[in-house]
This record gives sequence, structure tokens and C-alpha cells, in this order.
Amino acid sequence: MKVLVIGSGGREHSLVIACKKSPLVDEIIAAPGNGGMSLDADCRPVDVNDAEAIVALAKEVAADLVIVGPEAPLAAGAADKLREAGFDVYGPNLDGARLEASKTYTKEFLINNKIPTAWGEKFKDFSKALTYLRNAEYPLVIKADGLAAGKGVLIVDNFTDAEQVAHEMLIKNTFGEAGHEILVEEFMDGEEASIMLMVSGEDYVMLPASQDHKRAGEGDTGLNTGGMGAYAPAAVVDDAVEQKVRDEIIVPTLKALKEDGIDYRGTLYIGIMVLPDGQPKVVEFNVRFGDPECQILLPLLEQDPVQLILDCAKGQLKPETVRVKDEYSMIVVMAAGGYPNAYHKGDVISLPTELPDNVSIVHAGTKKNDAGEIVTAGGRVLGVVANAPTLQQAKEDVYQAVDKVTWKDAYYRKDIAWRQLAREA
Ligand code: AMP
Ligand code: GLY
Repeated sequence: MKVLVIGSGGREHSLVIACKKSPLVDEIIAAPGNGGMSLDADCRPVDVNDAEAIVALAKEVAADLVIVGPEAPLAAGAADKLREAGFDVYGPNLDGARLEASKTYTKEFLINNKIPTAWGEKFKDFSKALTYLRNAEYPLVIKADGLAAGKGVLIVDNFTDAEQVAHEMLIKNTFGEAGHEILVEEFMDGEEASIMLMVSGEDYVMLPASQDHKRAGEGDTGLNTGGMGAYAPAAVVDDAVEQKVRDEIIVPTLKALKEDGIDYRGTLYIGIMVLPDGQPKVVEFNVRFGDPECQILLPLLEQDPVQLILDCAKGQLKPETVRVKDEYSMIVVMAAGGYPNAYHKGDVISLPTELPDNVSIVHAGTKKNDAGEIVTAGGRVLGVVANAPTLQQAKEDVYQAVDKVTWKDAYYRKDIAWRQLAREA
């Protein structure tokens, strides 16, 4: 089978690695890909926001399966157009992709279907928003409605800050079209976890719960990033929480999608907040694998992830057949110094020639230069992944390998999984 993987991040490299290991796959094309993917796949240029260009490429390479990694092509209708052209696709159509592309739509979807979430109010009009914010209790969360690359969510502690954020979004257009409508939401205090489902219609496979570290600094401080590391399984989702997630969140969500006429095929990523009393509530939906969560979840599967992806794409997933390894997995993301602010590109990366069997390196912001060297080309440069029987062992193995990856000004967090490791201790 010929597989086309759309995207250029760590998530997509881990999908390419899964394809490389799969007996189902004989040829991998990645578009646009990155330095690491160019070692494992035939990389082709493509604008991921251009649905027509993606269809043209799928036709040109005669893909048997197209895996859409990021949300941007899905929000641009790439999955719809690929399906219209007869391709098997992993990733939802526009109707499903709205669960990530519009926070106000999703809030209404959750409330209408009585799925636990924070209460929220939407506003397009600045003065109406101000009246509401003046009389509200703080802290509150203000979100730009549309896709804002993780930057459109702000927690505000008082009316002055809230007014400023609402002004930035609704009047100053700092977030462009994405901020023309805002969602004002209740602040939930608890512990976050990521639930990744592989979905075909009402059938789903739930991958182990994971936890990522979005802040740049140790102890989860500092600026928000795309994710500096993650681990799974995350113990905050214990059996009781998992049962609630299935019964109160997953089942009603998939049922409602079906009732709305949406044939969802792809990943549904449910960001949850586990409140101190054990109640999980939905923070957000994403319509693609988490990055860096994907990089640790695929290696935890006992069976071939590509088979599951293909089954979802064809709408014939058999959930009872899914098996997960009795192991822990951890990823440490290595970033260019300065990220998520300005950072340097083009530094040559020195990679270890050999790695233990349980360790792998997944590329994100890398590329091959004219001299054939792998150089930095983005903020989050690469991730080091380790699988082990215990979380502590996974941590030791991952950081041993991190020490062997070097470039000028590489930065990484040394405390991935600190909450769970502290609890275990
Ligand atoms: P979102 O893009 O909606 O996932 O929001 C980004 C991040 O903001 C989440 O991962 C949470 O850490 C935080 N967040 C969003 N909504 C809330 C909320 N209602 N209460 C507390 N934290 C939130
Ligand atoms: N790791 C968070 C995300 O992929 O949105």
C-alpha cells in the first residue's frame, strides 16, 4: 500500500515511522515533511492549507491511504475533497473538523448534548461583552473562537485584564478572523489530561491517557508552547475517571455526531480537566493527534497503528481488537534556544549513531541542508522518546539519550512527568 502523510511536525514523523514498521505499507510519501521524514519517506512540497493541491498530489502519487496530520488542512476541507475524489482518508471532513475550528460551536455542541464542560457565553459585540465581564466573577477564561495556533486562550484575573483581552480580540483584531467572536468561560481548577480516540462513526479505540507539558519552563511555568514533553499512561485518569470519560463524554459525543449526520473518521482528541472530586470535564476537542502525544502513543500500541488508521478510514474499525503494551512512554521535546520567542535556525544537529532499542528520535523542526546535514529549522526541533516498564525507567532512558543530541543553544525541560513521579515517590 502507498501511504501519503500530510504535515511536517513530530506527529507526522511518528506517523511515518509507524508506516515504515507496518507490513501493510510499501511506499511512504510525506508532504511537505521535514529533515527526519526525508530519511524515511519520499518528501514532496505542498501547501497544507491548499485542499486542491493536496488532492492533486494524492492523485499524482496514486495514494491508497491519506493520513492528514495537522488541523489546518482539515479546516481547509482537504478530507472532504480527498473523499470526493475517492481516496481513503484518515481525518474528519469539515463538519467534524468544526469541533476544533470553532470553540463557540463546540461549546454549544457540548451544552446541548449535556456533556460535562465549563459554562460559557459567546460575544461578537464588544460592549455586550464588557457589560458581561463587568459583572462577572474572576478568574475567567477568554478564548478566540477560531484556530489561533494555541495562542487564543487567556486566563484573566480581573475586569481590567478581561477588558484588554476582549479589546485585543474584538476591536484590534489581533487574532484576525479567529478573534471576531469570543467565548468567555468558567475557569476550571484541576489536573489536565489528553484522551486520544481513533474513531470510525460510533466505534472508537481509546489510546492510553497522556499528559503533556505546554509551558516552556520547569514546573509548568512561563510561556505556552506547542508542547515540551509528554508521558503515558497518565495515572490522573484512573479507572473511575476513565469510566466517566467513556460514559459521560465519549459515548454522548459520538452519538451526537452521528445524529447530526457527521460520519467522523480520524482522531478525536479530548482535552479534559479532572476536577478534585474526580469529575472529568471537556476543555477542548482537537480533530487530530496531539503533538507530542502522538509520538508516545503509537509506540504503546501492541498492534500495527496503520491497520487501525486504515480501518477508521474505511469506516470498519473493530474496537474489541485493540491491545496496548503494559509499558510507559515518555517524550522530551528539544527546542531551539529562545523558543517560543525568537530563535535561531540552521544550526547543525549532532545525533547519536546508535540508540537503545527502546529509544527513538522523532524530528519536528529539522531539515537537510545542501551539504546533506540535518539542521534546525523550527522552534520545537525534535523529540526523544523512550518506552520502559516503569515511568522512572522511561525517564532515565530518555534523558540519557537527550544528552547525546546536541546543537548550539538546544533547550529542553528536565522535569517531564514531574507530577506523576512525585506522586509515585
Ligand atoms: P484550549 O485551546 O481551549 O485547550 O485552551 C488551552 C489551554 O488553556 C488548556 O490546555 C488549559 O490549560 C487552559 N484552559 C482552557 N480552558 C480552560 C478553563 N475553562 N479552565 C481552566 N483552564 C483552561
Ligand atoms: N499537545 C497539545 C496539542 O497537540 O494540542
